[in-house]
Amino acid sequence: MKMCLKILIPIFAFHLILTIVVASDPDPLQDFCIPNPKSTKKDDLPCKNSTAVTADDFVFSGGKSAGPFSESGFATVAANPSLFPGLNTLGMSFVRADFKEGAINPPHVHPRAAEMVYVVQGRVYAGFVDSANRMYAKVIGEGEVMVIPRGLVHFQMNVGKGTATVFGCFNSQNPGTQRMASAIFGSGIKEELLEKAFGLSSKELRRMRRRFES
Ligand SMILES: *[C@@H]1O[C@H](CO)[C@@H](O)[C@H](O)[C@H]1NC(C)=O
Repeated sequence: MKMCLKILIPIFAFHLILTIVVASDPDPLQDFCIPNPKSTKKDDLPCKNSTAVTADDFVFSGGKSAGPFSESGFATVAANPSLFPGLNTLGMSFVRADFKEGAINPPHVHPRAAEMVYVVQGRVYAGFVDSANRMYAKVIGEGEVMVIPRGLVHFQMNVGKGTATVFGCFNSQNPGTQRMASAIFGSGIKEELLEKAFGLSSKELRRMRRRFES
């Protein structure tokens, strides 16, 4: 009996940790789950009582205009469940992205979602690189959609006249975004390792670090 527990307890603990850490978008057990703003108190239900849910919980108006533009001319509005409660537990979310002429969305990955990029306005050079380092890229225009498989490096650039606007839809409510250059040069990885990995001199590396440190 004792021996049995000795084996079972670690297995159970490991399983518990896995379920917490490796959480994925679940199959919903209810029609919807609008997060209860008071759910930090342990006696409250995590979902709002549906009698307190309104149509507004299922409507997001924050994507009507562009988000704040960065210095490089790129702007995003990410509609995740904290901004758009109706998305919670549905396994989907979206982002509106706007590009000034020539602006880019630098190479990045979404570790937890595939993405559909729909061009609302303008012409965008869009593409991704697969795990064999083969690139798939082309210029897409208004009304065209590109699908980016989950977890692959991808990018866009406005190659048309004027501002370009795209909507990116994800099959996760929390796709995550990891920008390649910032993850590598802006995260504090030991200098010696980066110099060896990329064949950079320490001067070149300092320049990259300054550029991508957050
Ligand atoms: C939801 O609210 C209604 C009306 O106030 C109440 O009758 C019902 O018991 C509540 N349901 C839950 C699960 O608390």
